[in-house]
Amino acid sequence: MDLELHDRVFIITGGTRGLGFATAEALVREGARVVAIGRSAEDVKQAQELLGGSAMALCGDLADPDMPLRAISRAVEVFGRVDGAMISVGGPPPGTVLQRSDADWVQAFESVFLGAVRMARLTCAHLMTANPPSRNGVVGFVLSVSARQSIPSLSLSNGLRPGLAMVVSDLADEVGPYGLRTFGLLPGRIATARIESLDAATGDPEVARAQAEAIIPLRRYGTPREFGDCAAFLLSPRASYITGTCLAIDGGMLRMP
Ligand SMILES: NC(=O)c1ccc[n+]([C@@H]2O[C@H](COP(=O)([O-])OP(=O)(O)OC[C@H]3O[C@@H](n4cnc5c(N)ncnc54)[C@H](OP(=O)(O)O)[C@@H]3O)[C@@H](O)[C@H]2O)c1
Repeated sequence: MDLELHDRVFIITGGTRGLGFATAEALVREGARVVAIGRSAEDVKQAQELLGGSAMALCGDLADPDMPLRAISRAVEVFGRVDGAMISVGGPPPGTVLQRSDADWVQAFESVFLGAVRMARLTCAHLMTANPPSRNGVVGFVLSVSARQSIPSLSLSNGLRPGLAMVVSDLADEVGPYGLRTFGLLPGRIATARIESLDAATGDPEVARAQAEAIIPLRRYGTPREFGDCAAFLLSPRASYITGTCLAIDGGMLRMP
Protein backbone atom coordinates (compact mmCIF):
# COMPACT_ATOMS: atom_id res chain seq x y z
CA MET A 1 0.00 0.00 0.00
CA ASP A 2 1.33 3.45 -0.90
CA LEU A 3 0.90 5.59 2.22
CA GLU A 4 0.86 8.73 0.05
CA LEU A 5 3.41 10.34 2.36
CA HIS A 6 5.77 11.42 -0.38
CA ASP A 7 6.93 15.02 0.25
CA ARG A 8 4.51 15.53 3.12
CA VAL A 9 6.13 17.40 6.02
CA PHE A 10 5.84 16.54 9.72
CA ILE A 11 7.24 17.99 12.92
CA ILE A 12 8.20 15.30 15.42
CA THR A 13 8.88 16.45 18.96
CA GLY A 14 10.94 14.03 21.04
CA GLY A 15 12.09 12.97 17.58
CA THR A 16 15.78 12.43 18.20
CA ARG A 17 15.50 9.10 20.05
CA GLY A 18 13.02 6.39 20.96
CA LEU A 19 9.47 6.36 19.65
CA GLY A 20 9.63 9.82 18.07
CA PHE A 21 12.79 8.90 16.22
CA ALA A 22 11.25 5.59 15.08
CA THR A 23 8.30 7.60 13.72
CA ALA A 24 10.67 9.98 11.93
CA GLU A 25 12.54 7.02 10.41
CA ALA A 26 9.32 5.40 9.19
CA LEU A 27 8.11 8.67 7.65
CA VAL A 28 11.43 9.26 5.88
CA ARG A 29 11.37 5.65 4.56
CA GLU A 30 7.98 6.51 3.02
CA GLY A 31 9.30 9.65 1.32
CA ALA A 32 8.14 12.27 3.83
CA ARG A 33 10.20 15.18 5.23
CA VAL A 34 10.57 15.58 8.97
CA VAL A 35 11.66 18.18 11.47
CA ALA A 36 12.88 16.20 14.50
CA ILE A 37 13.11 18.07 17.82
CA GLY A 38 15.04 17.14 20.96
CA ARG A 39 16.98 18.91 23.71
CA SER A 40 20.40 17.27 23.57
CA ALA A 41 22.62 18.80 20.86
CA GLU A 42 24.56 15.55 20.57
CA ASP A 43 21.40 13.51 19.91
CA VAL A 44 20.15 16.16 17.48
CA LYS A 45 23.39 15.79 15.51
CA GLN A 46 23.17 12.01 15.55
CA ALA A 47 19.50 12.04 14.47
CA GLN A 48 20.38 14.35 11.59
CA GLU A 49 23.12 11.97 10.43
CA LEU A 50 20.87 8.91 10.69
CA LEU A 51 17.82 10.50 9.04
CA GLY A 52 19.73 12.20 6.21
CA GLY A 53 18.72 15.00 3.90
CA SER A 54 14.93 14.46 4.14
CA ALA A 55 15.16 15.55 7.74
CA MET A 56 16.09 18.61 9.72
CA ALA A 57 16.95 17.93 13.36
CA LEU A 58 16.64 20.91 15.71
CA CYS A 59 17.39 21.57 19.37
CA GLY A 60 14.19 22.41 21.23
CA ASP A 61 12.24 21.73 24.40
CA LEU A 62 8.52 20.91 24.33
CA ALA A 63 8.14 22.90 27.56
CA ASP A 64 9.41 26.06 25.81
CA PRO A 65 6.47 28.23 24.65
CA ASP A 66 8.49 29.54 21.68
CA MET A 67 9.43 26.11 20.32
CA PRO A 68 6.28 25.28 18.27
CA LEU A 69 6.30 28.43 16.12
CA ARG A 70 10.06 28.18 15.67
CA ALA A 71 9.71 24.57 14.45
CA ILE A 72 6.77 25.44 12.17
CA SER A 73 8.56 28.40 10.59
CA ARG A 74 11.77 26.39 10.03
CA ALA A 75 9.73 23.60 8.41
CA VAL A 76 8.04 26.08 6.06
CA GLU A 77 11.35 27.81 5.32
CA VAL A 78 13.23 24.61 4.50
CA PHE A 79 10.55 22.19 3.23
CA GLY A 80 7.89 24.66 2.07
CA ARG A 81 4.95 23.39 4.10
CA VAL A 82 3.71 21.53 7.19
CA ASP A 83 1.22 18.66 7.06
CA GLY A 84 1.17 17.65 10.69
CA ALA A 85 2.95 16.87 13.92
CA MET A 86 3.67 13.88 16.10
CA ILE A 87 4.08 15.00 19.69
CA SER A 88 6.35 12.89 21.86
CA VAL A 89 8.44 13.88 24.88
CA GLY A 90 10.52 12.20 27.57
CA GLY A 91 8.42 10.27 30.05
CA PRO A 92 8.05 11.66 33.57
CA PRO A 93 10.17 10.10 36.33
CA PRO A 94 8.81 7.05 38.14
CA GLY A 95 7.35 7.26 41.66
CA THR A 96 4.09 6.70 43.49
CA VAL A 97 1.58 9.44 44.35
CA LEU A 98 3.02 9.71 47.86
CA GLN A 99 6.57 9.96 46.56
CA ARG A 100 6.03 12.81 44.08
CA SER A 101 6.12 16.47 45.17
CA ASP A 102 4.24 19.54 43.91
CA ALA A 103 7.38 20.54 42.01
CA ASP A 104 7.45 17.14 40.26
CA TRP A 105 3.83 17.57 39.17
CA VAL A 106 4.35 21.12 37.91
CA GLN A 107 7.44 20.10 35.94
CA ALA A 108 5.75 17.05 34.41
CA PHE A 109 2.62 19.08 33.62
CA GLU A 110 4.61 21.75 31.79
CA SER A 111 6.42 19.38 29.46
CA VAL A 112 4.18 16.31 29.15
CA PHE A 113 0.77 18.04 29.25
CA LEU A 114 0.92 21.76 28.53
CA GLY A 115 3.79 21.42 26.05
CA ALA A 116 1.80 18.83 24.08
CA VAL A 117 -1.43 20.86 24.13
CA ARG A 118 0.40 24.02 23.04
CA MET A 119 2.18 22.21 20.21
CA ALA A 120 -1.11 20.72 19.03
CA ARG A 121 -2.94 24.06 19.25
CA LEU A 122 -0.33 26.00 17.30
CA THR A 123 0.08 23.26 14.70
CA CYS A 124 -3.68 23.14 14.12
CA ALA A 125 -3.83 26.95 13.92
CA HIS A 126 -1.12 26.83 11.25
CA LEU A 127 -2.81 24.01 9.33
CA MET A 128 -6.15 25.87 9.37
CA THR A 129 -4.67 29.06 7.94
CA ALA A 130 -1.85 27.75 5.71
CA ASN A 131 -1.82 28.87 2.11
CA PRO A 132 -2.21 26.63 0.19
CA PRO A 133 -4.26 24.85 2.87
CA SER A 134 -3.00 21.48 4.08
CA ARG A 135 -5.07 18.54 2.86
CA ASN A 136 -5.57 15.91 5.56
CA GLY A 137 -3.49 17.71 8.21
CA VAL A 138 -3.03 15.64 11.34
CA VAL A 139 -1.75 15.87 14.91
CA GLY A 140 -0.78 12.70 16.76
CA PHE A 141 0.15 12.37 20.44
CA VAL A 142 2.45 9.71 21.88
CA LEU A 143 0.73 8.85 25.17
CA SER A 144 0.84 5.56 27.09
CA VAL A 145 -1.39 2.67 28.11
CA SER A 146 -1.57 4.69 31.36
CA ALA A 147 -4.21 6.77 29.55
CA ARG A 148 -6.52 3.78 30.14
CA GLN A 149 -5.09 1.86 33.08
CA SER A 150 -2.73 3.01 35.84
CA ILE A 151 0.79 1.58 35.80
CA PRO A 152 2.32 0.88 39.23
CA SER A 153 4.87 3.54 40.31
CA LEU A 154 4.23 5.85 37.35
CA SER A 155 1.87 8.28 39.08
CA LEU A 156 2.83 11.34 36.99
CA SER A 157 2.08 9.48 33.79
CA ASN A 158 -1.09 7.94 35.28
CA GLY A 159 -2.30 11.38 36.30
CA LEU A 160 -1.54 13.25 33.07
CA ARG A 161 -2.10 10.83 30.18
CA PRO A 162 -5.87 10.25 30.63
CA GLY A 163 -6.37 14.02 30.32
CA LEU A 164 -4.36 14.12 27.11
CA ALA A 165 -6.45 11.27 25.68
CA MET A 166 -9.48 13.52 26.27
CA VAL A 167 -7.68 16.39 24.53
CA VAL A 168 -7.26 14.09 21.50
CA SER A 169 -11.02 13.55 21.40
CA ASP A 170 -11.93 17.16 22.21
CA LEU A 171 -9.59 18.57 19.56
CA ALA A 172 -10.95 16.18 16.93
CA ASP A 173 -14.36 17.79 17.38
CA GLU A 174 -12.95 21.28 17.01
CA VAL A 175 -10.68 20.75 13.99
CA GLY A 176 -12.60 18.02 12.14
CA PRO A 177 -14.74 20.56 10.25
CA TYR A 178 -11.48 21.96 8.81
CA GLY A 179 -10.47 18.52 7.53
CA LEU A 180 -7.88 17.98 10.26
CA ARG A 181 -7.46 14.78 12.26
CA THR A 182 -6.09 13.90 15.70
CA PHE A 183 -5.10 10.59 17.29
CA GLY A 184 -3.22 9.23 20.29
CA LEU A 185 -0.91 6.24 20.45
CA LEU A 186 -0.71 4.20 23.64
CA PRO A 187 2.59 2.30 23.79
CA GLY A 188 2.81 -0.55 26.28
CA ARG A 189 6.42 -1.75 26.50
CA ILE A 190 8.39 -0.79 23.39
CA ALA A 191 12.13 -1.43 23.75
CA THR A 192 13.55 2.11 23.95
CA ALA A 193 15.96 3.81 26.36
CA ARG A 194 12.94 4.96 28.41
CA ILE A 195 11.79 1.38 29.04
CA GLU A 196 15.38 0.26 29.70
CA SER A 197 15.70 2.95 32.37
CA LEU A 198 12.35 2.03 33.96
CA ASP A 199 13.45 -1.63 34.11
CA ALA A 200 16.83 -0.59 35.52
CA ALA A 201 15.12 1.52 38.23
CA THR A 202 13.66 -1.68 39.73
CA GLY A 203 17.20 -2.84 40.62
CA ASP A 204 16.98 -6.00 38.51
CA PRO A 205 16.26 -5.12 34.88
CA GLU A 206 16.24 -8.71 33.63
CA VAL A 207 13.64 -9.84 36.16
CA ALA A 208 11.60 -6.67 35.54
CA ARG A 209 11.56 -7.36 31.80
CA ALA A 210 10.69 -11.05 32.24
CA GLN A 211 7.82 -10.14 34.58
CA ALA A 212 6.53 -7.48 32.21
CA GLU A 213 6.74 -9.81 29.19
CA ALA A 214 4.91 -12.57 31.06
CA ILE A 215 1.71 -10.48 31.20
CA ILE A 216 1.84 -9.33 27.56
CA PRO A 217 -0.18 -11.67 25.32
CA LEU A 218 2.57 -11.61 22.67
CA ARG A 219 5.14 -12.33 25.46
CA ARG A 220 7.68 -9.75 24.29
CA TYR A 221 8.45 -6.06 24.16
CA GLY A 222 7.60 -4.26 20.93
CA THR A 223 10.29 -2.84 18.67
CA PRO A 224 10.56 0.87 17.86
CA ARG A 225 10.05 -0.05 14.21
CA GLU A 226 6.70 -1.69 14.99
CA PHE A 227 5.66 1.54 16.68
CA GLY A 228 7.01 3.80 13.92
CA ASP A 229 5.21 1.89 11.18
CA CYS A 230 1.82 2.26 12.95
CA ALA A 231 2.49 5.95 13.57
CA ALA A 232 3.40 6.54 9.91
CA PHE A 233 0.16 4.89 8.78
CA LEU A 234 -1.97 7.01 11.15
CA LEU A 235 -0.16 10.18 10.02
CA SER A 236 -0.75 9.28 6.39
CA PRO A 237 -3.71 10.24 4.21
CA ARG A 238 -4.54 6.51 4.04
CA ALA A 239 -5.87 6.85 7.62
CA SER A 240 -8.13 9.72 6.49
CA TYR A 241 -11.25 8.52 8.36
CA ILE A 242 -9.53 7.89 11.70
CA THR A 243 -9.75 10.76 14.17
CA GLY A 244 -10.30 11.49 17.85
CA THR A 245 -9.25 8.02 18.92
CA CYS A 246 -6.36 6.35 20.74
CA LEU A 247 -4.73 3.13 19.57
CA ALA A 248 -2.78 0.84 21.90
CA ILE A 249 0.48 -0.50 20.48
CA ASP A 250 1.14 -2.92 23.28
CA GLY A 251 1.14 -6.57 22.17
CA GLY A 252 -2.28 -6.91 23.83
CA MET A 253 -1.12 -5.73 27.28
CA LEU A 254 -4.11 -3.44 27.79
CA ARG A 255 -7.10 -5.64 28.35
CA MET A 256 -9.55 -2.84 27.66
CA PRO A 257 -10.37 -2.41 23.99
N1 LIG B 1 8.71 3.20 25.11
C1 LIG B 1 7.58 2.78 25.61
O1 LIG B 1 7.24 1.59 25.56
C2 LIG B 1 6.62 3.75 26.25
C3 LIG B 1 5.53 3.22 26.96
C4 LIG B 1 4.61 4.10 27.51
C5 LIG B 1 4.75 5.46 27.33
N2 LIG B 1 5.84 5.93 26.64
C6 LIG B 1 5.96 7.38 26.52
O2 LIG B 1 6.29 7.73 25.20
C7 LIG B 1 7.14 8.88 25.22
C8 LIG B 1 8.40 8.58 24.42
O3 LIG B 1 9.04 7.46 25.00
P1 LIG B 1 10.42 6.91 24.44
O4 LIG B 1 10.46 5.48 24.87
O5 LIG B 1 10.57 7.28 23.03
O6 LIG B 1 11.44 7.77 25.34
P2 LIG B 1 12.99 8.05 25.07
O7 LIG B 1 13.62 6.87 24.44
O8 LIG B 1 13.48 8.53 26.39
O9 LIG B 1 13.01 9.26 24.00
C9 LIG B 1 12.47 10.49 24.36
C10 LIG B 1 12.77 11.51 23.26
O10 LIG B 1 12.13 12.73 23.62
C11 LIG B 1 13.13 13.77 23.73
N3 LIG B 1 12.69 14.67 24.79
C12 LIG B 1 12.63 14.42 26.11
N4 LIG B 1 12.15 15.48 26.76
C13 LIG B 1 11.92 16.44 25.82
C14 LIG B 1 11.43 17.76 25.86
N5 LIG B 1 11.06 18.34 27.01
N6 LIG B 1 11.30 18.44 24.70
C15 LIG B 1 11.64 17.88 23.52
N7 LIG B 1 12.11 16.64 23.42
C16 LIG B 1 12.24 15.92 24.55
C17 LIG B 1 14.42 13.03 24.01
O11 LIG B 1 15.56 13.79 23.66
P3 LIG B 1 16.22 14.81 24.73
O12 LIG B 1 16.25 14.12 26.05
O13 LIG B 1 17.56 15.11 24.15
O14 LIG B 1 15.33 16.03 24.74
C18 LIG B 1 14.24 11.84 23.08
O15 LIG B 1 14.46 12.23 21.74
C19 LIG B 1 7.45 9.17 26.69
O16 LIG B 1 6.61 10.22 27.12
C20 LIG B 1 7.10 7.88 27.40
O17 LIG B 1 6.66 8.08 28.72
C21 LIG B 1 6.77 5.12 26.11
